[in-house]
Amino acid sequence: MHINHHQTSQDLHRYLKTQQNKTLLRFITCGSVDDGKSTLIGRLLYESKMIFEDQMKSLEIDSKKMGTQGDKIDFALLVDGLAAEREQGITIDVAYRFFSTDQRKFIVADTPGHEQYTRNMITGASTADLAIVLIDATKGVLTQTKRHSFLASLMGVQEVILAINKMDLVDYSQKQFDLLTHEYVQFAKKIKLLNITPIPLSALNGDNITRRSIHMTWHKGPTLLEHLENVSPSKKVSKQSFRLPVQWVNRPDSNFRGYAGTISSGSIQCGDEIQVLPSGKITRIKEIITKDGPLKSAQQNQAITITLDEEIDISRGDVICAKNDPAILADQFEAKIIWMSEEELHPGRQYLLKCGSKTVNTSITKIKYIINVNTLEHIAATYLGLNSISVCNLHTDQNLVFEPYLDNSTLGSFILIDKLTNNTVGAGVIDFALRRSQNIVPQYFKITSKERSQIKNQTPKVLWFTGLSGSGKSTIANLVEEKLFSLGKHCYILDGDNVRHGLNKDLGFTESDRIENIRRVAEVARLMADAGLIVLVTLISPFQKDREFARSLFSTNEFLEIYVNTPLSTAEMRDPKGLYKKARAGLIKNFTGIDSSYEAPINPDIILDTEKYTVTECAKRVIQALNY
Ligand code: ADX
Repeated sequence: MHINHHQTSQDLHRYLKTQQNKTLLRFITCGSVDDGKSTLIGRLLYESKMIFEDQMKSLEIDSKKMGTQGDKIDFALLVDGLAAEREQGITIDVAYRFFSTDQRKFIVADTPGHEQYTRNMITGASTADLAIVLIDATKGVLTQTKRHSFLASLMGVQEVILAINKMDLVDYSQKQFDLLTHEYVQFAKKIKLLNITPIPLSALNGDNITRRSIHMTWHKGPTLLEHLENVSPSKKVSKQSFRLPVQWVNRPDSNFRGYAGTISSGSIQCGDEIQVLPSGKITRIKEIITKDGPLKSAQQNQAITITLDEEIDISRGDVICAKNDPAILADQFEAKIIWMSEEELHPGRQYLLKCGSKTVNTSITKIKYIINVNTLEHIAATYLGLNSISVCNLHTDQNLVFEPYLDNSTLGSFILIDKLTNNTVGAGVIDFALRRSQNIVPQYFKITSKERSQIKNQTPKVLWFTGLSGSGKSTIANLVEEKLFSLGKHCYILDGDNVRHGLNKDLGFTESDRIENIRRVAEVARLMADAGLIVLVTLISPFQKDREFARSLFSTNEFLEIYVNTPLSTAEMRDPKGLYKKARAGLIKNFTGIDSSYEAPINPDIILDTEKYTVTECAKRVIQALNY
């Protein structure tokens, strides 16, 4: 019997080779904190005699030291690997365990129950064939039980063991077991989890783990291990056409060009016709190469390098597909998004989306609804908060090669990354494309952007003034425009107050509305710069991320961020429109500087200190920076 705590993937590979004739079952455990997950897994391993002797000894010593279970062995210690976790008494990361019985081999992802660790749960569920949903018999079906079941279902898990634990604390009551089973099954039906096997347990005392409980002779179903050994879960992924997302292009010299990756679905043979996406180019497979030598054919999950009959330009993130059934190309999707960050997600804001080996810019165009995991009601929302599960429309700045998640879990799932911090902030599964981007074809006209600006004898620019209300943005921009006008330049001012009378009259001052305000003005500025104009934008634009988005629409020297640096006290003293006074009196909500934040630019191109310099001097500095 085997178990090893921190095996590398290589060790795992070797180990699995010795087990080749047995089927593999991957499962996750999920449930609420303190439901006893770690104890359950520890008990399972211990009773199946899957622990080495020396590990047993260290466990006995540890248990005595920690003293959480009196003189009994604390099985949670077996699974909670890291010292830091033990000290905190919680499990904090996905722990994969590999073990086998005479019948079958197993990989179990033990995912923590704390709400903030949703991401671990999703990671585990994405590869699992089965989920053990653990319920504390004394507590019943909790929100977290439902959330985890929902996530497991979203990630394509179809087979569930409903492990009702701590039966010893409810006098092994069949009535309680039936009640909880009924409650859970009712809920599970609604989220399309249909294959549910309920088992009454006591992980602590070992009832119905590997041995039938003498306390619950009324239970006619299998023990936990019996079921794990015999269940045959249905396939998660239905699609069988060939897909190879290219992880890297192997080009050691000019004679060899190989494309390496792991086959995410289907199989290929040398000589098969393939289509490369997004380019759509068609050719044939010449060779299939692996680290163990060349192959005639290869299947799903194999890591291979292929060469092609013709030289085609292929880069990382492209997907090599079966010629007759290629994946889909689109830039608008409906997806389910699980938001995992304390910082809210707002529509219009940009994130990085990583799908397979491709990373693109994305923004949510619409939150259709968020799902209340308890009642499964759809709730309207303008932003996503921590741990919300939602259905959204999103847009990517490039075509994405994808497949609905239920067809291909690699090409159908993605993570969202914060552009400033690089943290993973969300995860999603793609339902379908909203509109095939092939149907929208960019039109190219004869007169170019360059010609439009040349005839005006100027270089297009965007001067983006940011600062508090009353900081002096509009006054300074006005002087800059006057000066440029006198030099014969063609300018236009996009001013917050003015734009909000027309184009943006549907927007207020919530965070979401400001993001949309800035997005629209940035897009208009882009059109105006394309028309050859010098555009002056005067928006408070209080958030760093949105100013970064605006900058991303322009080339390096085209966009200047100008920070009109006036302290709140000064702006409030000036109070040209009397708005600060109203805001202080509570008559205006979400007022920047009062009850809505202003994030000062981190690295602006120009800083104008309006306390030190007059507005004329400030305007002069801007003109100087333009080099006219
Ligand atoms: S932004 O935050 O979305 O960039 P914008 O520059 O368009 O704001 O509009 C700011 C102007 O709207 C202010 O100069 C002020 O005159 C007015 N205003 C009205 N309500 C507010 C508010 N709650 N916060 C800030 N400005 C407001």
